[in-house]
Amino acid sequence: MGGRGVVVNTSYHDSRLGGPTRRSRLYDGQIFVFSPRASSLALADHARSMIEAAFEGIDPLRAQYEMPVERYVEICSPLKPAFIHNDRTKELVRAVLDDFACDLERTYQDVPRLRMVTSHGYLTSGVGYAHHPHRDTWYAAPMCQLNWWMPVYDIESESSMAFHPAYWDRAVKNGSSEFNYYDWNSSGRKDAAKHITSDTRKQPKPEEEMELDPQIRFVPPAGGIVLFSAAHMHSTVPNTSGAARYSIDFRTVHLDDVETKSGAPNVDSEPKGTSLRDFKRASDFAEMPAELVALHDDAEAQSGEFVFQPGS
Ligand SMILES: [Fe+2]
Repeated sequence: MGGRGVVVNTSYHDSRLGGPTRRSRLYDGQIFVFSPRASSLALADHARSMIEAAFEGIDPLRAQYEMPVERYVEICSPLKPAFIHNDRTKELVRAVLDDFACDLERTYQDVPRLRMVTSHGYLTSGVGYAHHPHRDTWYAAPMCQLNWWMPVYDIESESSMAFHPAYWDRAVKNGSSEFNYYDWNSSGRKDAAKHITSDTRKQPKPEEEMELDPQIRFVPPAGGIVLFSAAHMHSTVPNTSGAARYSIDFRTVHLDDVETKSGAPNVDSEPKGTSLRDFKRASDFAEMPAELVALHDDAEAQSGEFVFQPGS
């Protein structure tokens, strides 16, 4: 394990790079930021309309001041799966990928998550889980996974997500070796709605003191996109903006990189199992070929239901 001597030093803005060149830069830890486009705004608009319908006229950004946290959870718990399983959601994600120069025949996408991060610790667990510093690869993401992150409403630095680039090639003692993706999905995720004031689900966490600064936060407008490697150390910024943050994130893998097991360097991820079965071909939502999943799987890991992805 260990890095390739590459320094994380670049954020590309509205880059026209595509294909293997863009993926290669991402696997080196560089970050791509995109302004809103018609396709991404359509996805953000769709999310906003679902959110606003669920809140029935209450401003979702300030709803926490209007209701007890239990009511907020009651509204958001069904909203999250409703967004995930909505057919239009999946099609809008595919349109985003097409617009952002992904080859739909070779790119596999998972379902997009809708996340809410309320202000000042109103809700920090369960459906509003505030993610501690992590790499998605601690949670059994393949090393070639790319994360697409988009605010649904405008955000502030105080309600964004943070990258901790010093850890790109620096290992952190962490609990990933005890994380089994299949066990997590059969027991952890379905209980999320019950976790209102604390979260007891066992997640891979840093097991040593970390230096979270320097950190980098990107603040694109609603419908803008931050694209980054799943191996990046990132976290939820504790929201002190006064307004809730709603964001969408989804993940992609390119079949070339799944086949060759290329991607970001693995510095400290040792989970059991793989999230690869969650990914469907963007062109027609066909399954990931089993022989390719097997390349990334662990013989002793059990298969189960596949629904969880760590967010930011
Ligand atoms: Fe994440």
